[in-house]
Amino acid sequence: MGKVCVITGASQGIGRAAAIEMSKREDVDVVVLIARSADGLAGTVSAMGDRAKIHQLPYDLSDLDGIPSLVEDICREHGGIDLLLNVAGYADPRSLLDTTADNLVQTFTINVFAMLILIREMARFSDGRPAKILNVASTAGITPRPGWVAYAASKAAVVSLSATLAEELAGSGIKIYTISPGRTATELRRKLAPDEDPTSIMQPEQVARVIRTLLSDDELTLDGQNIIVRQQL
Ligand SMILES: NC(=O)c1ccc[n+]([C@@H]2O[C@H](COP(=O)([O-])OP(=O)(O)OC[C@H]3O[C@@H](n4cnc5c(N)ncnc54)[C@H](OP(=O)(O)O)[C@@H]3O)[C@@H](O)[C@H]2O)c1
Repeated sequence: MGKVCVITGASQGIGRAAAIEMSKREDVDVVVLIARSADGLAGTVSAMGDRAKIHQLPYDLSDLDGIPSLVEDICREHGGIDLLLNVAGYADPRSLLDTTADNLVQTFTINVFAMLILIREMARFSDGRPAKILNVASTAGITPRPGWVAYAASKAAVVSLSATLAEELAGSGIKIYTISPGRTATELRRKLAPDEDPTSIMQPEQVARVIRTLLSDDELTLDGQNIIVRQQL
């Protein structure tokens, strides 16, 4: 039976590019796309071709309480999850004195808490099924980013939770990868650096190709460590 691949943040940017890449894999039969924007998800579907069965799931990941039933529904409908790509991310860059509780809560809810609960629920249903999870952190989580404190701290949390869970889940059949992309030409990057020329930085398709490589069955040697993905100029 083919694999079931679930991708958050699939309505644009790196998540869309990853969905296109994963749908080219012969061994992936079902791709579940999660994001809020139904139009964005439809745009991703139209770029994916018709080899895999595609399931669009418009969902706001800030609704943490709904995530257990979201995962349960996916597992019941498709028999389980083999590949989980936690790509969704939120950034509203503010300097320290402009950082509000709402900004902190929203940033950590999407970037950290939703990811953690998705992983928890996938693990709950995995029942020894071999699976791979890929979490998208950021180079902002490992080097200082003055003016982006909430985002940077949330990405550092992703690096930490991934390393912890890679050990906690070792032996369960679930492998966890973390990537930290550098500057990538997407909407989120435009928010962080509005004056930058998007053609001068890494493209989402380049990150998606790394994701595909890590999630291949042949990749058995990396696990948990933070992998930096950066275009060498
Ligand atoms: N671009 C960069 O330079 C860069 C560098 C390092 C790391 N990253 C990380 O890469 C990941 C992808 O970002 P991107 O650059 O591709 O940005 P993007 O184009 O802005 O995409 C962000 C994705 O997250 C989804 N999302 C945001 N809030 C959501 C919510 N409440 N519920 C469900 N989905 C939500 C968005 O979908 P909807 O709006 O449709 O909900 C969208 O699909 C993020 O984790 C980001 O932090 C990006």
